Amino acid sequence: MTVTEPAAASSRDYDSLPSTSPLGAPLDWKWLKGAKSEWGVRPKIGPRGLTMLDIAVGSYGDVPEHPTHRSMAPRGADVDPETPDMGYILNNKTDVWAENVTELYEEAVARQWSATRDIPWSELPELPDDIEHAMCQVCTTLTEVEMIAADLPAKWMWRMNHDFIEAKMFLCTQIMDEARHAEVFRKRALANGGGLLMSRGSSEGLLRTILEAKTYHQATALMHLLGEGFILDIFRMGELIAPSPVEKRMFRMAMQDEARHVAYGTMHIRYAVEHDPDIAEEIHEALDHGEVVLTQFGTNQDFGTALAVLLGGGVDHVESSGFALQAEMQRKQFTSYLARCERAGISRLERTKLPLDLLGIDPATVLAN
Ligand SMILES: [Fe+2]
Ligand SMILES: [Fe+2]
Repeated sequence: MTVTEPAAASSRDYDSLPSTSPLGAPLDWKWLKGAKSEWGVRPKIGPRGLTMLDIAVGSYGDVPEHPTHRSMAPRGADVDPETPDMGYILNNKTDVWAENVTELYEEAVARQWSATRDIPWSELPELPDDIEHAMCQVCTTLTEVEMIAADLPAKWMWRMNHDFIEAKMFLCTQIMDEARHAEVFRKRALANGGGLLMSRGSSEGLLRTILEAKTYHQATALMHLLGEGFILDIFRMGELIAPSPVEKRMFRMAMQDEARHVAYGTMHIRYAVEHDPDIAEEIHEALDHGEVVLTQFGTNQDFGTALAVLLGGGVDHVESSGFALQAEMQRKQFTSYLARCERAGISRLERTKLPLDLLGIDPATVLAN
């Protein structure tokens, strides 16, 4: 950041200000005299109001590839050389950045919703016992997995260089979104006289793999590309899963949020790999393992059978249509995961550990997705 002489408009003489406080402490008025080249430039306010994109004016919009500071100083401020190091370890733009992250932050803030107010809970209909049980089981598993996508960014955020503030702000919105997802599914499990049902270790294996990832690149690949992508596709099928308009709305609202998280992860991996191709192998290694544990999660019998009951419309139809619809849903989930990897610049088609034949996935479909 270049600090220029005070702007011409400032005609005041600040040199006559006192050099000591009334108690005798030395005073430094430098902040009052400095003016950057952007001083006097007003950001253009857009139709949505004043967005983070609007204020990315001049050098304030420049996000450095390798920030020189390790402090919480706002990017663009004049930083005192004495400012301490905060211990950041993610100090390269490729570590956390995505080209769409600022826009995603604005979208997230604009589209916040309330699980208390925006779901018409009082309109929940009385459901057949098997359907209510199935909905409660699905909500039990979803409540269990949602918070991993809050815990994981929380684990890494304090290690991210503060110059990447927009990325950190976006991850804050993701954390809030996940709290709301855990809330809405927990509420649904309890709202219609049902309750929380079965939790098993097969879900926890996936969650632990994500939380214990050694690098943020590996963590975000496992969480955003793999885990959240998988959940996003379940929400996309919400119209078919939901037994009433209340659950349809619940899935639709959660889907909007989840799509942002997956969009960040996909574009982050893409940015990283484009700027540093060596990162690709690190991500592949994480996904080699992640695909195996995701497959184990995908065979979680409680979640799977509950989905099959909902998709089939009851236990009486689970064999005639439920299982087939569930298999079709899984095929879509894994196909869209592989397509997402293509978009992220990490082609998994030659390397995937997923049983493509068993799932009925044709690689040509992935490329066309
Ligand atoms: Fe979520
Ligand atoms: Fe998410």
